[in-house]
Amino acid sequence: MPNNENLVALVTGAARGVGRACAVRLAEANSSLVLMDIGRDTPEVPYPLGSESQLEQTRRLCLKAGADTEAFLGDVRERDDVDAVVKLAVARFGRLDVVVNCAGIVAPSGESIDRVSEADWATMLDINLTGPFRIMSAAARIMKEQGSGSIVNIASTAGLVGYRNFAGYVASKHGLVGLTKAAALDLAPHGIRVNAICPGSIHDAPELEGRMLREVANALDLEGDHEQLFLRDQPSNALVAAEDIAETVAWLASGRSRSVVGAVVTVDGGFTSR
Ligand SMILES: NC(=O)c1ccc[n+]([C@@H]2O[C@H](COP(=O)([O-])OP(=O)(O)OC[C@H]3O[C@@H](n4cnc5c(N)ncnc54)[C@H](O)[C@@H]3O)[C@@H](O)[C@H]2O)c1
Repeated sequence: MPNNENLVALVTGAARGVGRACAVRLAEANSSLVLMDIGRDTPEVPYPLGSESQLEQTRRLCLKAGADTEAFLGDVRERDDVDAVVKLAVARFGRLDVVVNCAGIVAPSGESIDRVSEADWATMLDINLTGPFRIMSAAARIMKEQGSGSIVNIASTAGLVGYRNFAGYVASKHGLVGLTKAAALDLAPHGIRVNAICPGSIHDAPELEGRMLREVANALDLEGDHEQLFLRDQPSNALVAAEDIAETVAWLASGRSRSVVGAVVTVDGGFTSR
């Protein structure tokens, strides 16, 4: 397993799914970790979010992998929470080398643009786009002082192409791709690299407890085996594994990707190449 040079990493959305896979992968690569998740449901989002016990389970898995790990319950919509989690990383580990912006929601969705409410639009943008902006700006202040850092934003193929009835999600992820490039230019002179990953449809692995693909299917009122339906659009004949995203995160976090700046790395089994 390649060494990640004892980095200090903050992972948002770490309670389950892709965030959990990224946290465990970074733990296996000798990073120290601060794990953030909202850890509760919120009325603006129509499906269960990660829980406090799921965040604790991710922490246990990271500890088992040998990593010093702190868990922090916080909402990326709250500036105070964002400032506090960055402060925690520095207080506990003395620095902050890596940020993985993984927290995100896929619904409220499933409506044509003319039926999207102002409130639903605002929720989507606040979590998926302004959340990473808040985390990045707070982390960048620390990373600038250090003169180094790597920020990885988990966008989506919805940051590259449109999907019918997902206007808010698509706009938030296109925004995150743009924000990645703009932040990369601001921060590159300070030794800080900012990159984005655009995953395609990810299998909701039971051991990771993620549920985003299930919620995409729910938003579209799909019946039957939704993973089989998504599989039909995959040139690779396979859904993406959360571990594939985690592996890309580990590479972007490390010095092995030192010349990769402002890149948008697509990990989608060929979906957007069709
Ligand atoms: N699953 C997929 O098919 C897929 C595909 C492309 C991109 N993505 C992106 O990957 C990321 C992770 O997705 P996932 O599949 O693990 O989803 P998931 O719903 O299983 O996990 C998302 C996590 O983010 C947390 N979160 C949500 N709102 C938050 C907030 N306001 N503050 C803090 N934490 C919050 C949730 O509690 C949850 O633990 C998302 O940004 C998503 O858009 C997922």
